[in-house]
Amino acid sequence: MLDDIKQKIIKDFPITMRKIYLNNGSIAPLSLSSIKSITDFLIKYSEQGPDSDDLSKYMEKLMEETRLRIKHLINCNAIEVSFTQSTTQGLNLVANGIDWKKGDIIILRGGRHEHYANYFPWLYVAKRKKLKIKVLKIDPNGFFDINELEKLAKLKKSKLIILSHVLYNNGSIMPVEEVGKIARENNLLYCIDSAQSVGSINVDIKRIGCDFMAFPSFKWICGPLGIGIFFCSEKSKDILIPDSIGGESGQIISDDSLVHNDIPQKFETGFRNYPALAGLESSLRYILRIGMHKIISINSKTSSILRNELVKIDGIDIHGINDENLRNSIVSFSSPKIESNLLKVKLEKEGIIMAERDLLNGKKIVRASPHFFNNEEEIMKTIRVIKNILEHT
Ligand SMILES: Cc1ncc(COP(=O)(O)O)c(C=O)c1O
Repeated sequence: MLDDIKQKIIKDFPITMRKIYLNNGSIAPLSLSSIKSITDFLIKYSEQGPDSDDLSKYMEKLMEETRLRIKHLINCNAIEVSFTQSTTQGLNLVANGIDWKKGDIIILRGGRHEHYANYFPWLYVAKRKKLKIKVLKIDPNGFFDINELEKLAKLKKSKLIILSHVLYNNGSIMPVEEVGKIARENNLLYCIDSAQSVGSINVDIKRIGCDFMAFPSFKWICGPLGIGIFFCSEKSKDILIPDSIGGESGQIISDDSLVHNDIPQKFETGFRNYPALAGLESSLRYILRIGMHKIISINSKTSSILRNELVKIDGIDIHGINDENLRNSIVSFSSPKIESNLLKVKLEKEGIIMAERDLLNGKKIVRASPHFFNNEEEIMKTIRVIKNILEHT
């Protein structure tokens, strides 16, 4: 059953005929069906008239359907889903939208070892609004001490906890539900960067209980670039005051005052990227049709084979936690025999695509991020190529 599905999936991703693409933590390829949905949209847009009633209704329906699919994927309510440009934009909406008081505390993990998209917005707002940032210390795998978090959460001026769900450099899964409990108990806001989790592991908003979450379309959902998803919980919708407003996100009410619309439009200033939305809707349908449990099972198998085979190679160090329950399919490794960027470039010359990233203390690693269209054969070929590169270094 799984094999039939995998055969079909491979045909849907033409890149699999040309390359061994193990870089989905950076940007995943689009399936043929998502590409078709984008071109279908553009043809309709052109043929029906971009500003026609027919197309407006179609675009409205497209947004509604995409919100519904996100709702199913992350277990939230459809009105809690706004479309942005990127994860970064979503995180900035939170950073700039809270009514900060001087001295308020933002708690985050790792400081410079957090993805910059989930670090710079907090540094920036802290500087402008005179806030304090408390950085949780991390171990070599990126985990932090939950007791330290609990202590910080109890500080009088603590206001917001920031977390990445899955770490971009080694795939470690953070304890988002436990942190949610601490945030609720201490009446703190809680925002998650889920760029590396949605589409790669189960994400359940109702269980996590966060106020805000941001993620892109183009990583593990295999959607297009140029569109991001921002979750704002109904209970926290009045806490964020957007720093922008426009025809789509606001209105003038009877006493002539200007107000923001309710969520989700509150955060959707101006037209959205509709061609990308068409692709995203299609990609979400694709992912939901396969099912997250199957995706997780495929990914956990391929990534475990990759890890287990890499371990056997003399001169390869694996980074990140081994426990399958505490990581997604990202596998990070390095070799004392060859500089990581050079290894990445040599692999690329052989048609094997990975990324180079930083670990704690600036150590450079090669990051493989397999997804559901990758298979064991590709992994074994990758292992042979790595062995060969090391033998000739
Ligand atoms: C953890 C994490 N957060 C944020 C981003 C940035 O995402 P976007 O380009 O959608 O802003 C990335 C992208 O690599 C990421 O890995």
